[in-house]
Amino acid sequence: MGKIYMIGSQKGGTAKTTTTFNLAYCLRKMGKRVLALDFDSQANLTTCFGVEDTGVLDDTIGHLMMAQIEDMKLPSPKKYIRTKDGVDFIPSSIYLSVVDAKLRLEMGAEKMLSGILEPLREKYDYILIDTCPSLGTLTINALAAADEVIITVNPQLLAMMGMQDFLRTVVKIRKRINPGLGIAGILMTMCESRTKLCKVLTEEVTESFQEQIRVFETRIPSTVKVGESIYYSLPVAEYSPKASAGMAYRRFAKELVSYEG
Ligand SMILES: Nc1ncnc2c1ncn2[C@@H]1O[C@H](COP(=O)(O)OP(=O)(O)OP(=O)(O)O)[C@@H](O)[C@H]1O
Ligand SMILES: [Mg+2]
Repeated sequence: MGKIYMIGSQKGGTAKTTTTFNLAYCLRKMGKRVLALDFDSQANLTTCFGVEDTGVLDDTIGHLMMAQIEDMKLPSPKKYIRTKDGVDFIPSSIYLSVVDAKLRLEMGAEKMLSGILEPLREKYDYILIDTCPSLGTLTINALAAADEVIITVNPQLLAMMGMQDFLRTVVKIRKRINPGLGIAGILMTMCESRTKLCKVLTEEVTESFQEQIRVFETRIPSTVKVGESIYYSLPVAEYSPKASAGMAYRRFAKELVSYEG
């Protein structure tokens, strides 16, 4: 049975999408069966997979969510799961924001995404959910569907701010909706090795959370190769095999798997 990870953080621009994309690819390279889900109406992950005009798609996660809310039969997975370089993915589009608005008016709608993903579990080793930076209904749906959360932290962006709110939400979801929900750990992304900030902030995050939450040993360095690789719709390890971030994502995938024992 596959494990569902949500890649999340309360902040924008912490490399959630970049992490989902590269982790999916690295896990695939390790021989794992991987499904990446774009659960953000910005559809950045979908673009990473090389889908250009997302606005015209009619087989996105938004459409599946809408069908689920309306109690309609879901199409067969063949209809909405795409594949690139061995990694399966479900695209998103701006339509997910319509779903977001609708979810707010629905009663007991926290488990809609879970209802879509549960039947897919048996086909995969890992399902990775890329989320948007908010604590709204979509994020709650992702937390209700996930087994564990990977929290991405960009040390450039006042890393600790809002983290407690995010953690409080996780605790609430665990109590009320998804008792099995855990936190896999905190991943430091976009670390500038030339500056002391990354080191200082990593220490700060580690000191504050060490007792409760693992801070992954692997840190993802900041490099222009990441932006370039995304432009070409490639994982960084593929775009530039020697790039530090690509090697770090490979190490991170191994580290993550190693904790499963
Ligand atoms: N290791 C890195 N080095 C340099 N740039 C990076 C790195 N990781 C991500 N970036 C860049 O930072 C920006 C934000 O990354 P990304 O889109 O993955 O963040 P996000 O958390 O998904 O953002 P959002 O909250 O908007 O969904 C992108 O332009 C991306 O190319
Ligand atoms: Mg994103």
